[in-house]
Amino acid sequence: MPIALSIERRGPIKGAQFPLQVALRDDATVGKLKDGISERVAILPVERQRITTSENRALGNDDKRLEDLGVKSGDKLFVKDLGPQISWRTVFLVEYAGPLFIHPFIYYIAPHVWAYFGYPFTVSIVQKLTLLLCMLHFLKRELETIFVHRFSHATMPLFNIFKNSTHYWILSGVLIAVGVYSPFHGEEALLGLWRKSPTFLATCVIVWVLAEFGNLQTHIILMRLRPPGTRVRNIPRGGLFEMVSCPNYFYEVLSWVAVTVMTMSFAALLFTLVSAAQMTVWAIKKHKAYRSEFQGTYPKRKIMYPFVF
Ligand SMILES: NC(=O)c1ccc[n+]([C@@H]2O[C@H](COP(=O)([O-])OP(=O)(O)OC[C@H]3O[C@@H](n4cnc5c(N)ncnc54)[C@H](OP(=O)(O)O)[C@@H]3O)[C@@H](O)[C@H]2O)c1
Repeated sequence: MPIALSIERRGPIKGAQFPLQVALRDDATVGKLKDGISERVAILPVERQRITTSENRALGNDDKRLEDLGVKSGDKLFVKDLGPQISWRTVFLVEYAGPLFIHPFIYYIAPHVWAYFGYPFTVSIVQKLTLLLCMLHFLKRELETIFVHRFSHATMPLFNIFKNSTHYWILSGVLIAVGVYSPFHGEEALLGLWRKSPTFLATCVIVWVLAEFGNLQTHIILMRLRPPGTRVRNIPRGGLFEMVSCPNYFYEVLSWVAVTVMTMSFAALLFTLVSAAQMTVWAIKKHKAYRSEFQGTYPKRKIMYPFVF
């Protein structure tokens, strides 16, 4: 028996008379419903739609059958216009591109600008290493975005590109670069200090390298869980997944802790704290989602920080 649904709008949607009456096969998915809506409302392609029930429960997964989500013939559903969209891949590529330009630019002009204002300094090994590690970190993220990540959502709201880019361009780009490539971390300021010690610097770099490889390994495990072109989600296993639900976030924080300790810079500390807070909030959500999705089959694990949380 076909399913007949009445579709109301949540918020303003121009160009169609609501409610829409939509008839679908009884095995129709959320994606099929969205197709039906976009055929009638030209400005609403599938990616711009958010479908909810009368109780404001989101029908988020396009591959799920309406019937399995408790939708019955005669029900009223709601569609919201999410606004102009942009691909996840583009957002990632743009947000990581910022620091890749900002770091070398500030690194090269900083000694001239400071000298102009009467504070000349010689570039130190700490500053050289900071430039190298930041460039490698964001280059790795660009390559992972192109070759490793298999996103389940094609797009996100256009506004996110400005929000996300601010985080990376301003905090990990301008702030860290201006903070570290300054006389306070130059050769003269470090004279005779343990901060220049090869053992100390090598330890920081080794921790950073291990964290970056751990992060890459996690992303590869996640990639292998999802066949190309699908939105399949599975329980990740192997590596640090045996201990926590989000090892990639743990490794990411660890790599920035290594940079913070190496530079002793307030700017790096600020970026690390903001990033850790953000990722911890996401990790809690992901951990809860795993437990509710996989129920009793989800192994006992901490959320993000091994042995601790
Ligand atoms: N410094 C910072 O402030 C900061 C903040 C956030 C992230 N990052 C970096 O960016 C990286 C990526 O972040 P993210 O939030 O996108 O990581 P994520 O949510 O763990 O996702 C990584 C990839 O794996 C997929 N995936 C996740 N769980 C899966 C599962 N159970 N089965 C199959 N595929 C799965 C995701 O697809 P879908 O999610 O599309 O399904 C996505 O393509 C982080 O690991 C970190 O290195 C840095």
